[in-house]
Amino acid sequence: MSPISKEEKHALIKEAQDHFWMHAKIWDPNMVNPEMLVIMDQAKGTRITDVDGNNYFDLMSGLWNVNAGHGQKEIADAVYAQMQKLCYVNTWEYPTVPAIKLASKLASLVPGDMEYVYFTTTGSDAVDTAWMMSKQYQYLAGYPKRYKIISKKRAYHGVGSGPHGITGPSFFNRKYFEPFTPGIRHSAAPFCYRCEYNLSYPSCNLLCATDVERQILSEDPDTVAAVMGETISGAPGVIPPPPEYWPMVRAICDKYGILLIMDEVICGFGRTGKWFACNGHYNTVPDLMTVAKGITSAYLPMAAVIVRKHVRDKFKPGWAETFQHGATWNAHPVSCVAALTNIGIMERDKLVENSAEVGSYLLSALESLRSHPTVGDVRGKGLMTALELVKNKKTKESFETVDPFNTELAQQLRKSNILTRIRNIIVIAPPLVTTKKEVDELIEGLDRALGETEKKFSIK
Ligand SMILES: Cc1ncc(COP(=O)(O)O)c(C=O)c1O
Repeated sequence: MSPISKEEKHALIKEAQDHFWMHAKIWDPNMVNPEMLVIMDQAKGTRITDVDGNNYFDLMSGLWNVNAGHGQKEIADAVYAQMQKLCYVNTWEYPTVPAIKLASKLASLVPGDMEYVYFTTTGSDAVDTAWMMSKQYQYLAGYPKRYKIISKKRAYHGVGSGPHGITGPSFFNRKYFEPFTPGIRHSAAPFCYRCEYNLSYPSCNLLCATDVERQILSEDPDTVAAVMGETISGAPGVIPPPPEYWPMVRAICDKYGILLIMDEVICGFGRTGKWFACNGHYNTVPDLMTVAKGITSAYLPMAAVIVRKHVRDKFKPGWAETFQHGATWNAHPVSCVAALTNIGIMERDKLVENSAEVGSYLLSALESLRSHPTVGDVRGKGLMTALELVKNKKTKESFETVDPFNTELAQQLRKSNILTRIRNIIVIAPPLVTTKKEVDELIEGLDRALGETEKKFSIK
C-alpha cells in the first residue's frame, strides 16, 4: 500500500489533537510535528511500517506482547471463524468450547499442579484478581485477617487502585492517585546492579530475599495474604533476580502459610527462552501465576490467573464460598481462540526454543556494547534484555527520565530504523521469530546510534 499524502497526514494529526487522548501523553508541539509523529499502519514479522512508508524493527514486540510476530494470518483466520460461529455468551453462566480447551492447554504448559485457569482481560485485572483470590483463600482457610500483599520496590503490575499500588513506589506519579487499596507493602528489589544495601552478590546472602521475611514479621504474618513479584521485572528495567531469590521467597511463604503470586505477564509464553520463567529459570512453582500479553501474542486482549489445586480447592460450589468475581470479557471465546492458535504456532514453529537460542546470541552481542561510555549494565534472559544507560559508569548516575540524551538517542535509533522507547533503559525484547541475522543488524544500529549520540553530547 502506498503511503498517505502530506495533506492526509496533517488531517490525521489534527484529528488526533482534537479527539485522541493517547495514554500517558498530552500532545505537545514537538510530537505533532508531521516530521516527528510516527503513526503506525501495518506490520509483518519483526517489522512495522508507518503511514509515511517508513519501515522499523519492532525492538519491544509492541509492548513485550507480539511474541509470535506480526501478521500471523492463521490467528486472524481462526478469530474470524470463531466470530462467525459464536462471538460471545454470558460467560458467568456458560462455558464455551474455546475456554475449556484453552484452560486445559494452559494447564498442560504450566509447572506443577497449577491446574486451574481463571480468565481475565488485562494483566492489571489478573493482578487484582490474584490478590482478591488470595484474600478469600486465606479467609476460607481460617485466616480472615490476612489481607495484605507484599510486593517489590522496583516493580510494575499495572493500573487501577490495586495493581498501581502494588507497583513499586519508583514507578509513575503516585501522588495524584493515593491512597491506593489498603494493605500494600514493598520489600527490597532483587536488583544487583543497584542493590539498595550496597552489597555484592553472592556475599550479600540475598538480603533482598530475607527482607520479605522481615516485612512479614514486622506486619504480623496473620495479616499477610500473599507475596507478589514479577519473576523477572520488566518495565522497571529488565531485572533478573539471582538464582536463589525465588526459591528463598518460596520457602519463606511456605513457612508462614502465605501465598506466592508470580507475575508472568511479560515473562510468560517464551519471552525469557522458557515457556514460563518461574520454573524455567528459578525452579519455583508459585501458588498463583498471572499471565497476559504473549498468551495471544497481542492479537486480542486476554489474561489469566493460573492457580495450584490447593488454592482452587478452598473455593466451594454454591454462592457463599465461591469466588464472586468476574467481568464481562472474561473467557471471551474469540480471545480464547486467538490464544489457542497462537500457542499452536509457538509450539509448531519452536518459538520458545528460538527465544532461548537467539536470546543468548543477543545477550553476548549486547555485551560488546559495554565499551560505550554510557552503557552501565547489560542484562536479561531469552529475548527479554536491556541496556542500562548511565551518565557516569563509576557513580552509576542516571540520565533524567526525559533527558535530551534519551531523546537524541531515540532519534538516532530511528535513523537506523529501530523503534523503541528509552527511559534510561533500552529494552531489547523483539518478537520470538527474530533471527540471528536480524540481531547482527540490531547491534550495528544500536552501536551506531549510541556512538553518534555520545559524540553529540561529548561523552567519552
Ligand atoms: C509484569 C506486569 N504485570 C501486569 C501488567 C499490566 O498488564 P496490562 O497492561 O495488560 O494491564 C504489566 C504490563 O506491562 C506487566 O508488565
